Amino acid sequence: MVQTSTPRAPWWRDAVIYQVYVRSFADSNGDGIGDMTGIRQRLPHLQGLGVDALWLTPFYVSPMADGGYDVADPRDVDPMFGSLDDFDALVADAHDLGLRVIVDIVPNHTSDQHVWFQAAAQAGHGHPNRDRYLFRPGRGAGGELPPNNWESRFGGPAWTRLPDPDGTDGEWYLHLFDSSQPDLNWENPEVHQEYTDILRFWLDRGVDGFRIDVAHGMVKHPDFADIETDEETGLLGTGVVPYFDQDGVHEIYREWRKVLDSYPGERIAVAEAWVEGADRLLRYVRPDELHQAFNFDFLTAAWHAPILRKVIDASISGVTSVGAPVTWVVSNHDVTRHVTRNSDGDPDAGLRRARAATLLMLALPGSAYIYQGEELGLPEVTDLPDDVLQDPVWERSGHTQRGRDGCRVPIPWETARPNFGFTEPDAQPWLPMPAEWGALSVAAQNSDPDSTLSLYRAALRLRREHHALGDGEMEWVESADDVLVFRREPGFVCAVNLSAVPIRLDGRYDVLTASAPIGHDASGITLAADTAIWLKAAS
Ligand code: NOJ
Ligand code: CA
Repeated sequence: MVQTSTPRAPWWRDAVIYQVYVRSFADSNGDGIGDMTGIRQRLPHLQGLGVDALWLTPFYVSPMADGGYDVADPRDVDPMFGSLDDFDALVADAHDLGLRVIVDIVPNHTSDQHVWFQAAAQAGHGHPNRDRYLFRPGRGAGGELPPNNWESRFGGPAWTRLPDPDGTDGEWYLHLFDSSQPDLNWENPEVHQEYTDILRFWLDRGVDGFRIDVAHGMVKHPDFADIETDEETGLLGTGVVPYFDQDGVHEIYREWRKVLDSYPGERIAVAEAWVEGADRLLRYVRPDELHQAFNFDFLTAAWHAPILRKVIDASISGVTSVGAPVTWVVSNHDVTRHVTRNSDGDPDAGLRRARAATLLMLALPGSAYIYQGEELGLPEVTDLPDDVLQDPVWERSGHTQRGRDGCRVPIPWETARPNFGFTEPDAQPWLPMPAEWGALSVAAQNSDPDSTLSLYRAALRLRREHHALGDGEMEWVESADDVLVFRREPGFVCAVNLSAVPIRLDGRYDVLTASAPIGHDASGITLAADTAIWLKAAS
């Protein structure tokens, strides 16, 4: 087998990137909301963890109707998170520590508080100020019905009617998400110009890249035809629909790639593209487009060896066919934390599987993203009281879906109640933190060699040191159906036991690390259920 990785490969091909959900990471001023300075103070945690970069979720000026993915001013920091100076100081400190910084960009929509939408609202129908968004006349005799039957990803219709300035009934505007997140019209050259300017604004401030929100959105099929809604698939949508994964988005990325490449260093972009299958995903990472695309097929795969094996194979053969690395991810701020997602209702099994999944992910070829708190083994918070829920999904679904707040609860840093060092003890964190999270805090796990935090640190250190890990190739080793074993050169083996019983690996191995205690003697290794191990194959 040929070893393709070289020490000179671009940083992002094997980078481990840590997602900071800014609002919930660390609060420096006691208002219960995470902020730039809080992140800055906690950078040593990220450096000690051993990640290469951080991705900051939106911190731009925003009414926070959708956790900041409703951007009112994309060129400034919302005062709740600090200032541009605080941002610059954070980037400078991160760079000093050898950590790169990528930021979110939200091109599918703006907030309704954005100056463009304010101008559109004040203009009557047909006015050029409306052409930056997607206004359409309604159906029905008086235009009282939405232009088509598209639904918001958060529930309810994807159209809202806006009265004309003279008070008469007006046109409808499209919003694939909340009604306060109007979709932009990417047929309008001004929109293109604006977004390349925004890219430059942050690149000039030294960011190392962008995570592109709803990267499969932006371009809509010009027919705006009705769709069969019962074929839609979940919150973010992956089915073949006229508003996602249209060919036109790739033109935008070709334009953006030129901007990124015009800056020194390897500035990157990663696509959040929930598309149908590896062969659609690879289109986003063609050489003249984006660098990475989250591999959500891996995130959504069941904890089942044959399924994972298939997904891993398809993922690798997909994007590597165009020369891109796979970008692995198991959790983010939009999905149930994987400790809970894979638990089958048993929290112990959930944590065991999460730890094993991490070793699996970090051993696979390519780059990986870690969502804040997964290094602590945090579970989803499933019992948040109704009256604290902030995700627009809760309201828009008519209180039938609780939304994503349960994976956005602030990080416990210290053991002391009530706020575990996230904010001042007398402050109210923006979401309440479970009383038992002191035991999961960074301080509690810090010097415990068996903690999840120690496992992440060990795995990330090995990943940096071991020549077989990161970018490159892998080869399956024959094993029982419910076990995954693969080899990477030189001399590395990863084995994951997804069966319900212990398994035996015969052979002479040195153990690098394992997700749970193992049995080890001269003739082999015993791996308990839901356990992963990294081995050095003896020469
Ligand atoms: C994906 C983001 O990750 C999610 O949090 C947000 O609600 C939607 N895009 C809309 O911007
Ligand atoms: Ca704060």
